[in-house]
Amino acid sequence: MTTVDIDATIPNNVDLAGDRRLQRALESWQPKFIEWWKELGPVAFQGNDVYLRTAISVGQEGWANFGHVKMPDYRWGIFLAEPDPDRRIAFGDHVGEPAWQDVPGEHRADLRRLLVVQGDTEPASVEQQRRLCLTAPSLYDLRNLFQVNVEEGRHLWAMVYLLHRYFGRDGRDEADELLERHSGDQDNPRILGAFNEATPDWLSFFFFTYFTDRDGKFQLASLRESAFDPLSRTCDFMLKEEAHHMFVGASGIARVVQRTVELMKQHDTADIAAHGGIDVTTLQKYLHFHYSVSLDLFGAETSTNAANYFAAGLKGRFQEERRQDDHVLRDALREVPAVVDGAIGSRTAASLTALNETLRDDYIADCRKGVDRWNRTLADVGMELRLPHIGFNRAVGAFAAHHVDPDGRLLSDREWSAGAPQWLPTAADRDHVEGLMHGVTAPAQIAGWVAPPSTGVHQQPLDFDYVRV
Ligand SMILES: [Fe+2]
Ligand SMILES: [Fe+2]
Repeated sequence: MTTVDIDATIPNNVDLAGDRRLQRALESWQPKFIEWWKELGPVAFQGNDVYLRTAISVGQEGWANFGHVKMPDYRWGIFLAEPDPDRRIAFGDHVGEPAWQDVPGEHRADLRRLLVVQGDTEPASVEQQRRLCLTAPSLYDLRNLFQVNVEEGRHLWAMVYLLHRYFGRDGRDEADELLERHSGDQDNPRILGAFNEATPDWLSFFFFTYFTDRDGKFQLASLRESAFDPLSRTCDFMLKEEAHHMFVGASGIARVVQRTVELMKQHDTADIAAHGGIDVTTLQKYLHFHYSVSLDLFGAETSTNAANYFAAGLKGRFQEERRQDDHVLRDALREVPAVVDGAIGSRTAASLTALNETLRDDYIADCRKGVDRWNRTLADVGMELRLPHIGFNRAVGAFAAHHVDPDGRLLSDREWSAGAPQWLPTAADRDHVEGLMHGVTAPAQIAGWVAPPSTGVHQQPLDFDYVRV
């Protein structure tokens, strides 16, 4: 494999120094990225030392280095997983053929689109989260937020490298546009809906990293299957970093749940708002919201694009090689959710066109695991959190034109309007949650609405100066 050039202007393991044109092009994109980071990255703490991990290698042992660094000096780089010289295409019409080291002309437009849509989500989430640093519940959490943010920045680099390296002029233009669209911008928004929603408070942030970063995991895992080997290797390495983002969400909600249960027991009531906590009903509403907007990210139940991407070998299924079928799916069928004759049921679709639904199924099963863990804590007070019905609050696909309650009952417009305040965060709920958010910046101290973490970062103690304030 190519060794890691960690001291280069752009750290990389793709021998950037051996391609002067590409190197110059990326070095001229770099200042635009830094400018974007300073303008639309975290609104504070840009001059503070933050205890961050930085990718320095792609090997099994020690791929990251931990140390204090000011965020604008973070070493964003280009890291691809080690190549497998014998890698073969695992699915689609080209199954069994050698993986591609370059982009076949006929798939150029589709691959570029896949890279742009993935790349767009990375800076979008940094923009969505930029004000959260003002209200972090502890220095530990503040550091985790920044870790997620700098790594989303690196994921943008990952996609920009592929655009520059393999897509010529068009790719360079797309890379520039990734810095020009902005989350929530009226005139030039981010591509996907969930990435234009605000992330106004830390409860939203924890649910976002649990549900929406997990969409990222499943998208990256299916792109890791791609016949286009540089994309596969890029996604492989991105998934290593992504695991931490979902840890932030899963452990964050677990700590909120733990605190909620403590307050309920201490005050012998489920209504803990007056005691500075977040009650289970509010947690459930936030869960409903973030889960349903994340389900939309997988697209419509059936999609010709998804079928074409799979047949062409561009985007596979989650854990493609572990599946026990022919990996071609020419004659396969499956049921997909549908509203039929005024009732929720299903219809039969070609498996090839229903791949969005298959990925959504895998995602839902993964989401359930965390909810089950949170519920072990909630069992102490006889309560639970639940994933709502797949049709609840959906804006994409078969349910977009219907109102469905969390239990999966079809509703009239009137019933929906009457029920929605019980199911989704209201302005009053958001006010309460935002009212609890105050930045805590003394080492080892923690806000009252969330329990402390059980361990620190990288074997450091909880009172470590994760951010030097
Ligand atoms: Fe990412
Ligand atoms: Fe992420």
